[in-house]
Amino acid sequence: MGKIYAIANQKGGVGKTTTAVNLGAALVERGRSVLLIDFDPQASLTLALGFNPDTIEPTIYNALAAAIDEDGQPSLSNIVVHSKSGLDVVPSNIELSQAEMDLISATSREMILREMLDAVRNSYDYVIVDCQPSLGLLTINALSAADEVIIPLQADYLAVKGVDLLLKTIFRVQRKLNHSLQIAGVLLTMADVRTIHARDVIDFTRSSLSGHIPVFETVIRTSVKLKEAPTAGESVLSYASETPAAEQYRMVAEEVERGKSC
Ligand SMILES: Nc1ncnc2c1ncn2[C@@H]1O[C@H](COP(=O)(O)OP(=O)(O)O)[C@@H](O)[C@H]1O
Ligand SMILES: [Mg+2]
Repeated sequence: MGKIYAIANQKGGVGKTTTAVNLGAALVERGRSVLLIDFDPQASLTLALGFNPDTIEPTIYNALAAAIDEDGQPSLSNIVVHSKSGLDVVPSNIELSQAEMDLISATSREMILREMLDAVRNSYDYVIVDCQPSLGLLTINALSAADEVIIPLQADYLAVKGVDLLLKTIFRVQRKLNHSLQIAGVLLTMADVRTIHARDVIDFTRSSLSGHIPVFETVIRTSVKLKEAPTAGESVLSYASETPAAEQYRMVAEEVERGKSC
């Protein structure tokens, strides 16, 4: 049965989508089958893998709306598209912003994504859900569906403070909705390791979080290649295969497969 990862942080611009794409690509490179779910109405993941959110149809919203209406159509497997990075993708677009409203009155509103994924998870080794930057119902659905959550965190003092709120939400989901949810780890991103500040932040994060939650050994450094790859509709592993950024995401995949979550 495929393992489901949610990539979550209520702060935007911390590297969630970049991590979903490049961790997914690194797992594919290791011979695994991977399904990426774009669960953000901003549709950055859809765009980053070379699809046009404005024209793509159907999307995750159609599947979600059908599941909420309980009319059984269309299922996730009818929505999957294949990217040139070898990743299967359930695309999104701005329509997904309507889903937060639709979900409010739905039965088992926190569990809809979990039920939808039950039907496809057996076809993949990994399912990775790229969350939107909020702790609303869409993110709660992702956490309820996931086996593990990865928390990308920009290597910055202020970003570390914001993690408390996310952890509270994760612990609430663990208590009420998904007892088996585990934290795979905090992944430090966008670290400019040439600066003393970034090195201090990395040390501070490790010392303040370790003991409570795991922190990935790998640190993702700032890289222009990570910014450029989405404009080519590719992962950094194919766009700039020999670069440190590609290597760092390969190491994250290795840590994920080693599995040392709590
Ligand atoms: N390590 C990195 N170095 C440089 N730019 C990065 C890095 N990781 C992400 N980015 C860029 O920062 C922006 C926000 O990243 P993104 O993954 O979309 O964040 P989120 O999904 O959390 O909003 C994007 O333009 C992305 O290309
Ligand atoms: Mg994103």
